[in-house]
Amino acid sequence: MRSALALLAALASVVAAQVYTLADAYVGSEFLGTWTWQTIVDPTNGDVNYVDLGTAVAQNLTYASLDKFVMRADSTNVVANGTRGRNSIRVLSNRAYSDSVAVLDLEHMPQGCATWPAFWSLSQTGPWPDGGEIDIIEGVNLQTGNLMSLHTSPNCTMPATRTMSGGVTSTICDADYNSNQGCGVSGAPLSYGADFNGAAGGWFAVQRGAATGIRAWFWSRQDAASVPLAVQYPLVAAITGVSPDASWGEPYAVFPMDAECNYEEHFNAHQFVFDLTFCGDWAGSAYPTSGCPGTCTDLVNNHPEAFTEAYWEVNGLWIYTPFGQPTSPNPPYPSSS
Ligand SMILES: *[C@@H]1O[C@H](CO)[C@@H](O)[C@H](O)[C@H]1NC(C)=O
Ligand SMILES: *[C@@H]1O[C@H](CO)[C@@H](O)[C@H](O)[C@H]1NC(C)=O
Ligand SMILES: *[C@@H]1O[C@H](CO)[C@@H](O)[C@H](O)[C@H]1NC(C)=O
Repeated sequence: MRSALALLAALASVVAAQVYTLADAYVGSEFLGTWTWQTIVDPTNGDVNYVDLGTAVAQNLTYASLDKFVMRADSTNVVANGTRGRNSIRVLSNRAYSDSVAVLDLEHMPQGCATWPAFWSLSQTGPWPDGGEIDIIEGVNLQTGNLMSLHTSPNCTMPATRTMSGGVTSTICDADYNSNQGCGVSGAPLSYGADFNGAAGGWFAVQRGAATGIRAWFWSRQDAASVPLAVQYPLVAAITGVSPDASWGEPYAVFPMDAECNYEEHFNAHQFVFDLTFCGDWAGSAYPTSGCPGTCTDLVNNHPEAFTEAYWEVNGLWIYTPFGQPTSPNPPYPSSS
């Protein structure tokens, strides 16, 4: 059995890119037992009150069915003076992953003035920024293209020119540099906000490893014909695995790992996060030039109706790990608060 597996792995490496097999599938109510609803004070100073799972379900800020997982901001109540801010969610995967391919099928992301949603991963051990942060989906206010960026400890720099469809916004990943801007790549027109939602969303895929570096692809729902079968159909991927290669098309973001940024030194096992905050360090500071009305804090506190589109609707998140390699470290789901 072992030699047969080794032979298969050898064959696979000859005929194609690395094959990754399914490690975890998060679909609908499967999120409920495997992620943690964090109630922390927002580290980015947002006007937000992250609620626990019980509160989120009771207020329908978290809704899960067999095939849908929805996380939203409160869009009915005025925020009371002297409280932390608008009710919203921040969820963290209990498991952590190192080398992997993550595929997110997303129907809708939070959009609108004052919003700052993010889907990202961070080191399980830290302390931040040790072990790295990979921001996969991120933006604020009425932004159009998605911003993907890395935040690391010192000595991680990206080439200014790379073979990718996205545009370089900065090349220094060191979180201490330039007020933690990170090294960013801005993505395709339909990859964020109202445009993304107008096209019924799409798929994001992120690969990470020392040899491949960190690479990300985006396909809009309206380009479904060009989506790799294993990305579009997880039931296919459960049999074939996924193998990011030329058939996936050009990545929108490529972060090579080499002498300018040593993978082992800057990245270890990461947990995934979905969150939705308001104003704060980025959405708040960008608000005055965003084309949004009044002040950010007034919108958040006094205009709940502005947040009806502020929700994540997830069709599923699938994590694949390298075939024939031990998955490390990928602990069982701990009981967490
Ligand atoms: C809760 O949210 C879901 C998803 O948006 C929606 O389909 C459902 O109708 C909501 N339930 C209530 C009671 O509002
Ligand atoms: C909050 O305080 C402001 C100023 O002190 C006041 O104008 C406003 O009415 C208060 N809002 C609520 C919901 O109590
Ligand atoms: C960064 O790299 C330089 C040159 O290779 C080295 O001198 C320095 O110690 C490194 N700093 C850190 C924090 O690793």
